[in-house]
Amino acid sequence: MKILVVGSGGREHAIALAVSKSPKCSELICAPGNPGMANLGKCFPVDVADPKAIADLAQAEHVDLAIIGPEIPLVAGVVDEFRARGLRAFGPTAGAAALEGSKAFSKDIMKKYNVPTAAYETFTDLASAKKFLAEHPAPIVVKASGLAAGKGAVVCMTDAEANEAIEEMLGEKAIFGESGKTVVIEEFMEGEEASIFVVCDGKDYVILTSAQDHKRVFDDDKGPNTGGMGAYAPAPVVTDELLAEVKAKIIEPTLKGMAAEGKPYTGVLYVGIMVTSKGPKVVEYNCRLGDPECQIVLPLYDGDVLELFDAAEKGEIAKLGTPKPPKGSAAIIVLASAGYPGSYEKGKVVTGIDAAEAKGVSVLHAGTKMADGKLVTNGGRVFGVVASGATLQDALDTAYAGAAEVKFDGVFYRKDIGKKGLARLAK
Ligand code: AMP
Ligand code: GLY
Repeated sequence: MKILVVGSGGREHAIALAVSKSPKCSELICAPGNPGMANLGKCFPVDVADPKAIADLAQAEHVDLAIIGPEIPLVAGVVDEFRARGLRAFGPTAGAAALEGSKAFSKDIMKKYNVPTAAYETFTDLASAKKFLAEHPAPIVVKASGLAAGKGAVVCMTDAEANEAIEEMLGEKAIFGESGKTVVIEEFMEGEEASIFVVCDGKDYVILTSAQDHKRVFDDDKGPNTGGMGAYAPAPVVTDELLAEVKAKIIEPTLKGMAAEGKPYTGVLYVGIMVTSKGPKVVEYNCRLGDPECQIVLPLYDGDVLELFDAAEKGEIAKLGTPKPPKGSAAIIVLASAGYPGSYEKGKVVTGIDAAEAKGVSVLHAGTKMADGKLVTNGGRVFGVVASGATLQDALDTAYAGAAEVKFDGVFYRKDIGKKGLARLAK
């Protein structure tokens, strides 16, 4: 099969790497790709926000299956565009991707199908939202309903913060534009967070594994939120017992609900949960693999990732039989540019990738480019250093040994990835 991987981050590099290892893949192309992906297949420039342009490329290149990495093309309807042209793309339709594209929609689905989540109300005008806040003191969570590049959820520990957040979204500033013109205000949930990745074909599903991301920029969860500074999988907080509860109370009702709504879910459903004292509750759904979680979730799959995505797109997951549980653990350390997630410099020359890979890691590109024949930094999150191991400790040791080898001016990374998981395993 000729495969097109759409996207340009570490997640898409990981997808391309997994696909390139499949005996079913005869040719791989990427759009727009990155310098790491360019080592695996030819890269084509494309605007990922433009479903027609992506489908045009797939048609011109006679692609058998496109795998869509980011949420923007999915929410914009790239899968619908492919299907309308008789082309194949792995991912949810726009109607199903609304589980991520509209928090108001996803909360309504959860309510209708009794999926445990934080209590909430939806608002489109400032006065009603303010009145609600006056009656519901902090801590409380204010969320822009639409896509906001991971920045749309504000956990407010004071009433002043909550009022400021709704002013910014529903007031004149409208900092999230259309995405913030509908706001969900929800109950603050306490607990440990984890993510669960589910590959769905509209009827059946396969759970890949659980994982835990590290969103804050500094050690011990200090500093501002980022796109993710590292992750490990599986997450020990997700015990077999908890996973059974997540299946019965969250995954199955969600998938049945979406089918009943006439929006059967195909693609990856990313379920973000909070493990509360009252059991697991949904924090959010995403319509895609996580970044950086994808980079560790795919290597743990004990099978052919392309075969799985291909079967899911065809509605044939049941034909694959029962998947084996993941063997061992995996970890990723994100190498970032000084200043991230605020402003940072680009164009710093990178060295040490071969030395890192000699330690047994994969160095996945997230924000790099080639300039005058040299690999240079081109983003806040520059690389993800990935390792697998028999245990979480082994995976972390190898990943950190590799991370120490990659050099560029201003490189920094968290030194405590996996700490919560190790503490739980020690108990
Ligand atoms: P979201 O964009 O919905 O994933 O939210 C981003 C982050 O905000 C989550 O990963 C949580 O850490 C936090 N968060 C979101 N909703 C809640 C909630 N209801 N209670 C506590 N924390 C939350
Ligand atoms: N790592 C968080 C996300 O992909 O949304």
